[in-house]
Formats: sequence, structure tokens, C-alpha cells
Amino acid sequence: MEKLKISGGRPLVGTVNIGGMKNAALPIIFATILVNDVCVLENLPDVSDIATAMEMVRRMGAEIERLDRFTYKIDTRNIRSNSAPLDLARSMRGSYYVIGAELGRFGRSSTAYPGGCNFGVRPIDQHVKGFEALGAKVSYTSETITCYSEKPLEGTSIYLDVASVGATVNIMLAAAKAKGMTVIDNAAREPHIVDLANFLNSCGANISGAGTEVIKIRGVEELYGGTYAIIPDMIEAGTYMIAAAATKGDLTVANVIPRHLEATTAKLLEMGVAVEEGDDYVRVSSNGNFKKVRVKTDFYPGFPTDMNPQFCVLLCLAEGQSVLTESVMEQRFKYTDELARMGARISVNGRDARVDGVTSLTAANVRAVDLRAGAAMVIAALSANGTTIIEDIHHIQRGYEDMVGKLRAVGANIEIVSDKI
Ligand code: EPU
Repeated sequence: MEKLKISGGRPLVGTVNIGGMKNAALPIIFATILVNDVCVLENLPDVSDIATAMEMVRRMGAEIERLDRFTYKIDTRNIRSNSAPLDLARSMRGSYYVIGAELGRFGRSSTAYPGGCNFGVRPIDQHVKGFEALGAKVSYTSETITCYSEKPLEGTSIYLDVASVGATVNIMLAAAKAKGMTVIDNAAREPHIVDLANFLNSCGANISGAGTEVIKIRGVEELYGGTYAIIPDMIEAGTYMIAAAATKGDLTVANVIPRHLEATTAKLLEMGVAVEEGDDYVRVSSNGNFKKVRVKTDFYPGFPTDMNPQFCVLLCLAEGQSVLTESVMEQRFKYTDELARMGARISVNGRDARVDGVTSLTAANVRAVDLRAGAAMVIAALSANGTTIIEDIHHIQRGYEDMVGKLRAVGANIEIVSDKI
């Protein structure tokens, strides 16, 4: 088992380049099933969730060629229906996009319940509501979910009770080739939804309104392949922004879309961190004096739930009591027990965490309890004096491209070590 060993207390200084966005890349990889042609995807992040998605699509019959580290050619013309490998599907949240894509192409799909980070119950009722509204029948076993439609899917209006990213993606996929017009009301507005729409439109789809709460999808007969570059990862970028502040560093976070980072930037400014915005970079610097703030996660353009744990580390270092409220995921505070091992003073009550600032965190042996929690442990360790060991780093590797290499290049003392230390 690999672990991370981090000797903290060094400021991060220099430039870090941000990779493609995992949560945009996953729907787009599964969307190639629907496209039924040859697609070249550029700027894919080199992370294990992408490798798993590629392996899933390959085992379903796609021909996949890796043109370089970040570019794949995917030929989905020979995909077989109902062929999702259940073992892989179970290991990842985004695997459920196979349902929308297969349903849209073949009128049927069967896959396992998706895995991913454990934030309590993560229902898929809104996905099912969408599939059924388009004319599919949905059935379940204890292990699988199966969707089937005898007739071609037909466009309709669907109101989402919650602006779910996953449900919006799955309905867009199922509806892109359905008959007539589908309208998704209260749709998710995240940049990855816009990226998926842009990709599908570049393949001949007719989707408008992505990025607003009403998305209109006029079904088309055929889609065709092409070349598409994935947008930069705003959560990876935000993570490095916070790491820069927490280590009293001066870091240029490059290859980003600053507009996507505005919620994080606003909160950093409020805490007294300096943030300078360029066309495609942000520069973050800090003297380590942080003001307390209230932060509430929300759907985009609100403060991202995927930044909750990382931002909490900064609140731990602020003067006075800050409050962090989680309003998107049911349980996202499991990581606070790990931060407590490093001297953090956090009390969680339901969806609120009250964080009493401390002068500094102390090194300890901790675990990455999920992907973003793992990133938070890295930030905490970088800020702390002494040597921290982080276990279960496979969570981090699911979504952060070469985090060790990127951090070392800007001055961190971080390495991967094996079990025997
Ligand atoms: N929800 C429902 N019913 C549904 C679907 C969702 O009640 O049918 C609820 C969820 O329980 C949750 C909220 O709606 O409380 C938001 O869930 P959403 O569907 O938007 O999240 P997701 O699609 O499961 C994606 C990302 C997550 C990210 C969330 C929120 C992927 C593969 N996953 O999950 O990313 O936290 O959106 O932005 O895109 C991560 O990358 O670390 C990660 C966890």
C-alpha cells in the first residue's frame, strides 16, 4: 500500500499547471458511446478514474488508442449494448453515465449501482424520473439497474427536484437522439454541464441553455465524431489556491478559467488572501493571517461542495470561529476526525461545522477518507510543521493528476512511500 509522506512548513512558490476536469471528462467519455463514431478527446486528466472509464468503454467493445498522455482516440462503432462491466461500474460514481448513453443509442442499458465517495445516501431518483419521462422502463435487482424502452425515446419536459449534476448529464445523454424536444427545468449549471453540451453540439447535437437552469435538447437522428478538448479542472485549481494560502506561499495557478473559480476567489479575498486574476491564471499569495468567515456550499455558481474539505483546512488556521455549512451532500464532514488528529478544533452538528482557529496544525498519521478529503489532508500536512503520513491515497489518485510531482515542482517536500516506513 502506498502512502504519502509530507514534511510541511514550506511555502509553495512558482507555477502549477492545471489539467483537464475529471467531472467533465467522465460524462464526455461515456457520451462517445452515444456518438457511435470516432472521437478524439484532448486535455483528459491523467487520473485513475479516467483510466477506469476508458477500460469500461473498452470492455464494452470500443477501440481505444492513447495518442499521448492526455489525448485518447475512441472508436465506439462496435460497442455492444448492455455490456457495462459491473466490477468497474461499481468502483466509480461517473459509471452511471453509461445508462443515459446506452439508452440514447440502443434503447436499453444495464449496469451496477455506482460507487464513488461515500457522502451518505446518494440517491438516483432524479435520473430515473428523467429516463421514465422519456419513455423507458426502469427495474432493479440488489446489484443492478436496468432501463429499457420498446419504442424510441420521446422528448418531454422534466423538472428536477434537485439540480443534480449526474441527473442532468444522464438526461442530456438519453435525450440527445430522442424524438422531439426535451426540456430540463432546474438543471445543474456547473461548467461540466456546459462542457458536455459543447461536446455533444460539436458532434451534431442540438442543445441550448446549458449553464442556465433550463436546458433544451432537440433530438437529432445521428451524431458524428470529431476532436474536443476538455475544460480545466476548477476543483484541482481551487485546491492549489488554498494550498498556496495555507503555506503562506505565492503560487500562480495556470491554465484555468478564472470565472469558474470566482466563489473560491471571493472567499479567499474575504479571508485576507491576495488573489490576482489574469486571462487564464490566478496568482495566490498570503502572509498567513486569515480572517474568520462563514462559508456555505451550494450548486454552481455557489461555493463548490468539492472544495468543502480543502477550505476547512484554511478555516482551521483563521483567527476566531468560522462556520462551514454543507448544503449539497448529506454527509461530507467525515474528514474532520482526521483533521482533529492534526490539532484542528472542529465541532460538527448536522450540516454545520464550527471551526475554531489554531495557530498551526501539527503533523500526524492520517487517512484520506475520500477524494477531496485526501486533498485537504495534503494541504493540512503542507502547512504543518513535522512529517505527516497520509494513508489510503488511492482516493487522491482517482482525481488529482500527479499531485506529488506538481507539488514538488513548487517547493513541497512530499513523496510516495510504500508500506514499510
Ligand atoms: N441527488 C438526489 N437525487 C438524484 C441525484 C442527486 O437527491 O437523483 C442529490 C444528492 O444526494 C446530492 C445532490 O443531489 O445531495 C447533488 O448530487 P449530484 O447528482 O449533483 O452529484 P453527483 O452527480 O453524484 C457530482 C460529482 C461530485 C460532486 C457533485 C456535486 C461526478 C462524477 N461527481 O456528483 O464529485 O461532489 O457532482 O457537485 O461528477 C468529486 O469529484 O470529488 C465528487 C464527489
